[in-house]
Amino acid sequence: MLGSGNSKHLVCPYHAWSYHTDGSLLGCPDMQAAVDFERVDNGLIPIRMETWAGFVFITFNADASPLLDTLGDLPDRLASHRPDDMVCTWTVTLEPRCNWKLILENAMETYHTGVVHRASVGSQQSRTLETRGDWKCIQVTSGRSIATLPGTEPPFPPIEGLDEDALQGTYFTVLHPTCQFAVAQDCLWWLNVTPVAHDHTVLEIGGCFPRAVTEAPDFAAKAAPYYARWELVGREDVGILEHQQRALGSAAYVPGRLSWRDDMVQALGQWVLDRLPTPG
Ligand SMILES: [Fe+2]
Repeated sequence: MLGSGNSKHLVCPYHAWSYHTDGSLLGCPDMQAAVDFERVDNGLIPIRMETWAGFVFITFNADASPLLDTLGDLPDRLASHRPDDMVCTWTVTLEPRCNWKLILENAMETYHTGVVHRASVGSQQSRTLETRGDWKCIQVTSGRSIATLPGTEPPFPPIEGLDEDALQGTYFTVLHPTCQFAVAQDCLWWLNVTPVAHDHTVLEIGGCFPRAVTEAPDFAAKAAPYYARWELVGREDVGILEHQQRALGSAAYVPGRLSWRDDMVQALGQWVLDRLPTPG
């Protein structure tokens, strides 16, 4: 998200240079006297962009694979949820004082949930699923949607036509490097992780429901418990991750051992290691 809306032109807030929506330069005040200045050479820098299911993906890497290759079998895995027929109805932006990788790791293990979330979603179990493409997936197993807190039935029914696997629980995913989808039986929520500094991240969370559900007159009241749960659990995670970040800076810090329940934490670390230059 990070800024949204509609505009016929883009205008720089500094010296009011303006650009067409295709990025070409439209206006540039008081540049008539500039020598060898051509508008055509001074448009915005092009960035690769592709879309899937209404989500916009950009990359600064001209050599990156096409989006569908990156997604691999993610569209198949989520097909019965029909994400392209969903509407985003809610967002919240948090600014955790922690490294971006801690956020990804946190969403890919249920080892912490019975502790950090003991007063909200509580203890959970998960299974790791095979993936093809540049993404990872666990499924938190539960016959009911975990997008609202335990204790009462989720206000919205399961999406019609969910496949056998989708009925087993909620998918938690990392689409490398910084995008996450959590997909339950009745909705999905996404997490967009933007690194700002080594210990500072912008975390946007958004909630999406099937279009038909959002058009019902009682939608807002029924959706409220979902929004409350997403923000509450998000803030619980951010709280513990900021503690973790402070501990990482301790003079006494040494890496700790992982549990078998941290298999995806290890896999995420390996993904990063595989992309770092070899020392020496
Ligand atoms: Fe969590």
